[in-house]
Amino acid sequence: MAQLWGGRFTGETDQMVYEFNASITFDKRLYRQDIEGSVAHVKMLGKQGILTEQETDAIVACLGEISADVEEGRLEITPEYEDIHSFVEANLIKRLGDTGKKLHTGRSRNDQVALDMRLYCRQEVAETDALLKGLLTTILAIMEAHTETIMPGFTHLQKAQPVTLAHHMGAYFEMFKRDRQRLSDICERMNYCPLGSGALAGTTYPLDRQYTAELLGFYGPTLNSMDGVSDRDYLIEFLSACATIMMHLSRFSEEIIIWNSNEYQFVEIDDAFSTGSSIMPQKKNPDIAELVRGKTGRVYGALMSLLVTMKGIPLAYNKDMQEDKELAFDAMDTVKRCIALFDGMLSTITFRKDRMRASAALGFTNATDAADYLVNHGVPFRDAHGIVGRIVLFCIEKGIAIDEMSLAELKAISPVFDQDLYEAVSMETCVNKRLTIGAPGKEAMEAVIAAERDYLKHHPAISVSRRGDGGQPQIL
Ligand code: ARG
Repeated sequence: MAQLWGGRFTGETDQMVYEFNASITFDKRLYRQDIEGSVAHVKMLGKQGILTEQETDAIVACLGEISADVEEGRLEITPEYEDIHSFVEANLIKRLGDTGKKLHTGRSRNDQVALDMRLYCRQEVAETDALLKGLLTTILAIMEAHTETIMPGFTHLQKAQPVTLAHHMGAYFEMFKRDRQRLSDICERMNYCPLGSGALAGTTYPLDRQYTAELLGFYGPTLNSMDGVSDRDYLIEFLSACATIMMHLSRFSEEIIIWNSNEYQFVEIDDAFSTGSSIMPQKKNPDIAELVRGKTGRVYGALMSLLVTMKGIPLAYNKDMQEDKELAFDAMDTVKRCIALFDGMLSTITFRKDRMRASAALGFTNATDAADYLVNHGVPFRDAHGIVGRIVLFCIEKGIAIDEMSLAELKAISPVFDQDLYEAVSMETCVNKRLTIGAPGKEAMEAVIAAERDYLKHHPAISVSRRGDGGQPQIL
């Protein structure tokens, strides 16, 4: 056991207590952030004359070596340390002796862990955003290729009106675009540095918090030290954005599963993204889509868990907050994997245009347009609705589509019908006459595609740059 706080204690910590209390098994993944934060802290202490130049240089260099040793597998992060902060500090002291003992001047593990989680979260937001951008690029390519691929649009999972595959995909483009916007909004609020908040009440050392914040690429320091150590809003917001991303992926997965079924056959998932059955040789299952849909639950769970953990915590830091990590890490990993896999599945999927078109043509998806035809010939809409309802009944009995009725049969139900009805209810007309902004008509769709292309061009993935790697700290 390697603890930082032995002085006040005379007895040994019970082994079970030690293990229950320790976080090293899961916060070890914060080692990069922990070292990066320590380097900035020490540089600031040096600039303020709290550490000498030699001390500063020695600690910074040694932290760099520890980092490289961990990175290259020469130094293992083992459970004998309570947490990642203890691990780094203990190793620094092992290597530097008394100088290493100065690292923690003017700092608490409370502001340290608050910083580490923010740095980690910021990186995760950027990586998630980059993956979403990749997925949007895939979706846009499908939209570009399928402005004329007619398929049924559904409400209540009943065929409703014809749309195009481009249009259907465009709905998901909007969803994932909003997800990206949420991520960049979160960065705006998250990007303030809690380091320097101390345990809860700041410190008597003349820390330059502005400088530390700048070194780490933050907009500035947080403005209340009690809030600085106990705020996890940014994580709740991120998990909430993750939950929404998963909800979108899950809906999309559900559609892929339906479209891939024998009954629909709108798509065929590539062999690389499907799995077989151990007993039924004919099976090719959409397991990836099912798993994405399934994993949505655990991401929701992480959000709910953190909300509940936080709800009763008095100011400022309390150990409950250590529970912010395991589920959040799992949720972040899950979301990234799901986006990447879904993108791979979508970019290799085959769309069965013939099946989609046939399905649209057979489902009375042009019934609204038949009613509109009557309205355009002076029939009040409610009457037109009734007439077309009777037509649909007639067709169902005969097992035919509206445009397979003879003109005589149509006229027997309403004399208003004429030869031009056939053109008016063709799938192409039904789709391409819908030209309001956001509708599936080819021209309307092409305008949207141009706008989405422009959006992708002007919204590069979020990147975090720090002082020293060129320019002002910023989050794009
Ligand atoms: N492992 C702790 C956490 O994750 C670090 C902060 C510990 N602070 C303390 N006063 N014990 O929250």
